[in-house]
Amino acid sequence: MILIIDFGSQTAHLIGRRLRALGVAVEYSDPEDALATVKTKHPKGIILSGGPNDISHDASLSVDRQIFKLGLPVLGICYGWQLMAHLLGGAVKHSKKEYGPEFFKVLPCNPARKYLMKLHSGTVIMSHGDTVTKLPKGFTAMGSTKQVRYAAVINEKEKLFGVQFHPEADHTEHGAELLKNFAVDVCGETLSPFVLNPKSIIGSIKKTVDNSKVICAVSGGVDSTVVAFLIGKAIGKNLIPVYVESGLMRPDTDKRVRHIFTKLIHANLVIIDAKKRFMDALKGVTDPEIKRKTIGKLYIDIFQEQAIKHQDAKFLGQGTIYSDVIESKGSRHASHIKSHHNVGGLPKDMKLTLLEPLRNFYKDEVRELGRLAGLPEDIVGEQPFPGPGYAVRVRGEVSPIRLDQVKIADSIVVEEMRTAKLYNKVFQCFAVMTGAYSTAVKGDGRVFAEVVAIRAYESKDIMTSQWTRIPYDVLAKISSRIVNEVPNVSRVVYDITTKPPATMEWE
Ligand code: XMP
Repeated sequence: MILIIDFGSQTAHLIGRRLRALGVAVEYSDPEDALATVKTKHPKGIILSGGPNDISHDASLSVDRQIFKLGLPVLGICYGWQLMAHLLGGAVKHSKKEYGPEFFKVLPCNPARKYLMKLHSGTVIMSHGDTVTKLPKGFTAMGSTKQVRYAAVINEKEKLFGVQFHPEADHTEHGAELLKNFAVDVCGETLSPFVLNPKSIIGSIKKTVDNSKVICAVSGGVDSTVVAFLIGKAIGKNLIPVYVESGLMRPDTDKRVRHIFTKLIHANLVIIDAKKRFMDALKGVTDPEIKRKTIGKLYIDIFQEQAIKHQDAKFLGQGTIYSDVIESKGSRHASHIKSHHNVGGLPKDMKLTLLEPLRNFYKDEVRELGRLAGLPEDIVGEQPFPGPGYAVRVRGEVSPIRLDQVKIADSIVVEEMRTAKLYNKVFQCFAVMTGAYSTAVKGDGRVFAEVVAIRAYESKDIMTSQWTRIPYDVLAKISSRIVNEVPNVSRVVYDITTKPPATMEWE
C-alpha cells in the first residue's frame, strides 16, 4: 500500500485514483497522523500531496520529519516537495506564481548514471506560489521548467523524490507514468488493475437500504441518472425519483427526465414545479456563494417536504461525485472553492439519511459505471450541467430577463456546436452572461449592453481542463447569432483559460 498524506490539494484524491487504476492500494492520512499511520499500516512508500498553504509564509502544516528517516521511498508533490525541502535543510521562497500548463525539460545527466526515477520532457500542470531555491543535502535536480529550477529532484541514496508539478493531473503528460514508476520500480508494488464493478455497488446499496424506500434527486444529468439506475436495480419499486423543475435547467430537461424514467428506469417519477420559488429566492442575490447556498437550501426544503409526504422513505439518494465533494472542501486541509449544491449535508431535523454511492468516483468512472450497468451512450455521454443550472452562468442577480438571455445564448452555442459535430467532442460548452457591459452600435444607434462569454473545454475527470480550439468559423457563427438573436447583448468573447486556475463555471 502507498500512503498519501493529504495537505489539502484539490487533486490529492487524484493521486490515489491514478494509483488505484493501476491496481495499487492506497490509503490517506492527515499530516498530523502521518507518522502513526506509517507505523501501524506499514506502507511501501509515501506520497506527500500538494496543498493550498504557502511554506514561505507559514510552515506549520507539516509532518514529523522522522518519516524521511524510515528508509521508505517518499515522493513530494508541489507543497509536499517544498515541505520536504524545508524540513531537510533546503530553502523555499515566495516566487512568481505559476498556474496551468508549463513545459518541463529533463536535464541531461551523466549517461553512466541511471536514475531510479525515469522522467520525460513534456507539458506539466503547475499550481504554486512558492519555489524551492536551495536543495537539501544529497538532492540532485533532474528536470526544470523555464521558471522552476528544481521542478523534479532526487536523493537516490535515501529514495526521496520531489516534483513541483502535479503528475496526478490529467493534463500533465507522462504524469501517470511517473506515479507508476514511483509505486512499482521504486516502492516495489505489484499491479492488479482495479475493475469498476456496478454489481458490487448495487449489492452494497441493497445491504444499506434493505426494504426501505429511497427518494432520489434526479436531474436528467449523468450522475443522478446513473445513481437512480443503480438504486433502481438494487431496490426496484422502492425507488422514488423526484425531479425539481427549478426553471434553471436546459429547456429540454423535463422531456429528457420523463424519457429516462419511462423507458430506461421504470419508476414513478415525481415532478415538482418550483420555478416561482426559485426565482423568488434568487431575487436580489448577487454573491456567487450566497446564490449557491440559497439554491442548495431550497432544494433541501423541497426534499424535506417530500420526506414528509413519503413517510416510508428513509434515504435521500444523490448523484454526488468526488469533484463536487473536493471543491466543497472535501478533506481536512482543502480550501473551499465553491459550494456544490448537493454537498453540505442535510439539516439535523431531516429524517432522511444521505445515500451517495458515487461519492468516491470521478466523472469518467461514473460514465463507465453507467455503461457497464447498461445505460445507453446518449445518456452516459451527455455533457454535465451544474445542479444550480443557469443561475451560476448569470454573473450577478438572476432576473427573469437575464435567465431568458442566457437560455437563448446557450441554445445557440449548443446548436452550432452540434452542427459543427463538436458538441460530443467537448466536455462542456456553454454561454455566460458576464455582468460586464460594453458599447455597441446597432441600427446606427448606441447600445450599452451585456457581454456574453463562451466557454468550451476538454476534460476527463473535471479536476483539470484545457480550452477547446474551436474553429474560427464556428466561433464567428456563434458570435454573430448571439449579438443578433439575444436581446441586449453588445459583444461576445471566448474564454481561453485553463483549469487550473479558472474553474469551469464562472461562479
Ligand atoms: P467547476 O466550475 O467547479 O465545475 O470547475 C466542475 C464541474 O461541476 C459542475 N458544477 C456543478 N455540478 N452542482 C453540480 O451538480 C454544482 O453546484 C456545480 N457547480 C459546478 C460544472 O458544470 C462542471 O461540470
